[in-house]
Amino acid sequence: MVALRFIFSSSLLILLLVLPQALLISFGSASQIRLTSTFSIQEATIEDIRLAFKEKRLTSKQLVELYLEAISKLNPILDAVIETNPDALIQERDLKDITKLPILDGVPVLLKDSISTKDKLNTTAGSLALLGSVVARDAGVVKRLRESGAVILGKASLSEWAHFRSFSIPDGWSARGLQGKNPYVLSANSSGSSSGSAISVAANLVAVSLGTETDGSILSPASRNSVVGIKPSVGLTSRAGVVPISLRQDSIGPICRTVSDAVHLLDAIVGYDPLDEATKTASNILRLDHHIKTFRREGAIVIDNLTIPNTQVIVDGKSGEETALLAEFKIELNAYLKELVKSPVRSLADVIAYIEEFTEQEK
Ligand SMILES: *[C@@H]1O[C@H](CO)[C@@H](O)[C@H](O)[C@H]1NC(C)=O
Ligand SMILES: *[C@@H]1O[C@H](CO)[C@@H](O)[C@H](O)[C@H]1NC(C)=O
Ligand SMILES: *[C@@H]1O[C@H](CO)[C@@H](O)[C@H](O)[C@H]1NC(C)=O
Repeated sequence: MVALRFIFSSSLLILLLVLPQALLISFGSASQIRLTSTFSIQEATIEDIRLAFKEKRLTSKQLVELYLEAISKLNPILDAVIETNPDALIQERDLKDITKLPILDGVPVLLKDSISTKDKLNTTAGSLALLGSVVARDAGVVKRLRESGAVILGKASLSEWAHFRSFSIPDGWSARGLQGKNPYVLSANSSGSSSGSAISVAANLVAVSLGTETDGSILSPASRNSVVGIKPSVGLTSRAGVVPISLRQDSIGPICRTVSDAVHLLDAIVGYDPLDEATKTASNILRLDHHIKTFRREGAIVIDNLTIPNTQVIVDGKSGEETALLAEFKIELNAYLKELVKSPVRSLADVIAYIEEFTEQEK
């Protein structure tokens, strides 16, 4: 994080200057409990946040305020966040008995803009064509996050349509999110398509984030922005309510600053969802960290340094992947659009016509 601190030293200074004020907010009770120490969102892990909640140094609402402050300062430079949730601030959590609450309780999460939320936030995959669409329900993973007490902070920018509209569109660019920037070196490639999710955690704009991957869209931006990404096996996390590319390859996974944060977030979102058939078989493999420990204890050899023999075929594009994805995209996208309660576009053909009509905004 040295480089980031260097680049944003002036913005960070402003942020640090406002911190004591933000944290001196009293709890409003007659006893006037005052926060005695300051909490820094820089590099804060879920465990750090939880400890601060437990020690009453921080409330969930104050944490949301700190992240919204950071977003308003840095997002004009980074374009990592498309929308923030107007309801995030009113979702004050009762964290009295924190040890009994799920680990994500009160923790702000940012979602890639292709992950549906049935709230005030739009879900558009970065495209103006989906602005004004109304989703039927929260995505399966969002339902789980809400059940875990997580606060949905907003929607992250991305490569539009998860980089499937055209490969010539720059990584991290969308008509709604503009050009997401790598916080370490603004001119460097932030990669995609879950660019905003990776940029946001790298720049401490949120505690943790979710991205999606069909082929590289979590791992590549995580790597480029020096954060941790996990692409779960297909079916481990529900794809229901997520703008699709391919049911054979799509997966929803965490992008975080630390491996343990990524595991906590993954633990919260894995599991069976009747709206995604693939989760049926995968739902047996739950609580990854626990299972890996069990495997080791029972004598299994867990390979940390796996070599996949046929990667060259995949990298060389000889696997037929592109053909499969092109065919599946049309089927899956039409199914997604059909499910929407309201939408200006109802088919891939409508989307193409929209983009051709509004070339100026959609490039
Ligand atoms: C969703 O999009 C509409 C139309 O642009 C906008 O008015 C509204 O503020 C957006 N919602 C949020 C939470 O930003
Ligand atoms: C950005 O990085 C990704 C992943 O390494 C690569 O596929 C893409 O071509 C790069 N884009 C540019 C403009 O270099
Ligand atoms: C991982 O694999 C590479 C290539 O085979 C090898 O050079 C390296 O030593 C391995 N690392 C570990 C920790 O086993």
